Amino acid sequence: MIEIITAESAGFCFGVERAVNTVYSEIENGGKIYTLGPIIHNSEVVSDLENKGVTVIGDIDDVAGLEKGTVIIRSHGVSKDVAKQLEESGMKVVDATCPFVKKIHSIVESDSKKGNKIIVIGSRNHPEVCGIIGWCDPENPATVIENEEEANSFFLGDERKITVVSQTTFRLGKFKELVEILRNKGYNVNVVNTICSATSKRQEEAKKIAMSVDMMIVIGDSKSSNTQKLYEICSRECNCTKYVQTKDNLEIDPQRSLRRVGITAGASTPKNIIEEVQNYVRINF
Ligand code: F3S
Repeated sequence: MIEIITAESAGFCFGVERAVNTVYSEIENGGKIYTLGPIIHNSEVVSDLENKGVTVIGDIDDVAGLEKGTVIIRSHGVSKDVAKQLEESGMKVVDATCPFVKKIHSIVESDSKKGNKIIVIGSRNHPEVCGIIGWCDPENPATVIENEEEANSFFLGDERKITVVSQTTFRLGKFKELVEILRNKGYNVNVVNTICSATSKRQEEAKKIAMSVDMMIVIGDSKSSNTQKLYEICSRECNCTKYVQTKDNLEIDPQRSLRRVGITAGASTPKNIIEEVQNYVRINF
């Protein structure tokens, strides 16, 4: 009998699960439902929601002119300005911003009001970062730092205190390196580590499982960057690591005898897809 080890941390993190559940419960309440951007990077979930009548709005400017209904803000959150535009749009607004991201918004808002310079370490085009910087006092805008080069060239020509926060999914080691560069410049830096542990826990558990199995299966959307990262980590530990979106991508190799199979999944993979893969392996391998 094959042994299947599924990572406890596989799939949705707390914030994504909460956002997806919010959409499904709003569907039950009836009326027209919109999400500002796709609720998660998973084509199966997004098309299931579309089939249930949920429409993805690409841009806040598209809200005007839409049939009245409910707009759901996804876990990444939005800027203060976008939140205000939504409130004034006449739509019902349901805010599913992850509470950990909300906390960053309030730090950034209050510290920039106090006059601190805000630095956000993260990817400047990521929607979460775009939302975070939008909570700064407009008179005192944030600077986003993505890499060493940008940290090295950062210059503040006055005596302001600096508050540093991070995108929740940024890598801790790199965050520390970038903070060190800023500290070495002699600035008065207040560092708030806002990295969420969900990602690192998922990666550590996947690595541990991959070390002990004959085959490791990583489930997630082909466009999901955190799933690609999981695949890389597992491939280093197990030379038979498979990247699949659903059970349909799994190929059976009759030549290969498997005793232990490990399973993990990226942050946007729903539980039912993980269970389907588990059952498929149990029956067919
Ligand atoms: Fe929230 Fe952490 Fe997920 S910040 S959206 S629980 S990765």
